[in-house]
Amino acid sequence: MEKYITTPIYYLNGLPHIGHAYTSILGDVMKKFEQMRGNSVYYSTGTDEHGQKNQHSIEASGLSAEEFLKRQSDNFKNLFVDLGIDFDYFVRTSKPEHKKIVQEILQNIYDRGLIVKKSYEGLYCEGCEQFKKKSDLDENGCCPDHKVAPKAISEENYFFKLEPYRQWLIEHIKSNPDWIQPAKYANEVLGMLKEPLEDLCISRPKSRVWLGVELPFDKDYVTYIWFDALVNYISTLNYGHNPDFDKLWANSNHLIAKDILKPHCIYWPIMLHALNVAPVKHCFVHGYWIGEGGVKMSKSLGNVVDPVEVVNMLGVDALRFYLINNMTLTGDSQISIDLLKQGYKMLANNIGNLQMRVLKMVQKNLEGKVPSKAGMNADDKKLVNDIADRFTRIYSQEMSLETVSELADSIVKAGDATNAYFAANTPWVLAKDPAQRERFEAVVYTTLDALRLIGCAMYPLTPSTAKKIERSLGCCDEIKAEFKAMGLIEGSNVEVGDPLFPILEEK
Ligand code: MSP
Repeated sequence: MEKYITTPIYYLNGLPHIGHAYTSILGDVMKKFEQMRGNSVYYSTGTDEHGQKNQHSIEASGLSAEEFLKRQSDNFKNLFVDLGIDFDYFVRTSKPEHKKIVQEILQNIYDRGLIVKKSYEGLYCEGCEQFKKKSDLDENGCCPDHKVAPKAISEENYFFKLEPYRQWLIEHIKSNPDWIQPAKYANEVLGMLKEPLEDLCISRPKSRVWLGVELPFDKDYVTYIWFDALVNYISTLNYGHNPDFDKLWANSNHLIAKDILKPHCIYWPIMLHALNVAPVKHCFVHGYWIGEGGVKMSKSLGNVVDPVEVVNMLGVDALRFYLINNMTLTGDSQISIDLLKQGYKMLANNIGNLQMRVLKMVQKNLEGKVPSKAGMNADDKKLVNDIADRFTRIYSQEMSLETVSELADSIVKAGDATNAYFAANTPWVLAKDPAQRERFEAVVYTTLDALRLIGCAMYPLTPSTAKKIERSLGCCDEIKAEFKAMGLIEGSNVEVGDPLFPILEEK
């Protein structure tokens, strides 16, 4: 099966931070997970390059729009490459291919009478790039996300009517319980749909916003950024020009955080419905990363976690593992350099030390070769069978936020079980007793085999560590979700390489 995974496209007014890194890592983890299950995946991530917020940053930079956008977009792209993110397409909404499709869609719905022009007064939050209702604001009259009072704006604009589609959308949510996951966000959207929907303002006069896609039917206006940005999900597949579009779209998956639920689960499905295109198959919604102790990350508090700093200190895989292992499915999750270091040490103790100890034992006592499994007893077999069964079950499920989090958890548990097994069977004592040779070999074999299964399961989360583990055990085949216990080949060469997670030099 061919699947399509997308992330939000990020604004360019700042540098990429841990939240952006997270969603794009999550997409890569899901891609690799599905690839191991034998599916092919097309994965897109990228940058949202229009609108008032980006425009103000360009104006402040003194650079041309093109130079600024390229420089900022490259910061995201380069970071994602450094994080091992294997995207197939990097979206930039300033590309002519995208702009052309936005215009075609606008013309289509305009020609069908779905767009009207009228004058409008509203409160605009630039942070959200959205008009706000008074009821959306906090007690100080500010946007609850950006803590800034929205600006009163009065102008003539073009509007797309959402209300005629409200009932259809409610039905769609109710009859597709796996559409918006976790379910609490589906309920949140149903809550938003209790009231009639206001018309969506889809234009901005050029006198106020010049950075955008010109409306094909009125050159004095550009397209509202959300209408333009959401279209990226189908312009990436060359919508309207690609005979295979339906095939890929039928298995599409959006990843977003809770901040952009409304555009993705109200505006976007309605826009698609107006085009006669089905909504995305699944929309996975995650919470926010916040600072340790539950406080928002901010420059003034000095608790902002910079992904580049983390990678330099702890490496890519420790960051990836922490993010997937610690994002809670019920709310926001905490992150700090200290918490990341604890996560690193957990991996070093759980997987890194185990691998190093057993490999050194093989090198010292077994001529660097995988020993015989002939002496394995019921307990040995149970350890590897249980690990294999658990990973088989996890990989038999479709990717979801629950699945990848369960995967991370089961890797830690399998590591714990193998460490406990190793400690209880004291192979370093057995090694000294020639009468216990068969038992010694069986214990080492069992530990190596467990490590092989764990390494294989780790691939989506920590791709380079997984490959190092497999290589160290002489298994260089393509990594697939085939978890057969006792599959390690006796007599093959093992290699003691560098530690997977070396001791941190504490400053
Ligand atoms: N440009 C719009 C999205 C358009 S998609 C058609 C936008 N950009 S953004 O730069 O603000 O990115 C928002 C997204 O970044 C979130 O939905 C989430 O994926 C990620 N995150 C940003 N901050 C985050 C956290 N603190 N925690 C987790 N993810 C966060 O909205």
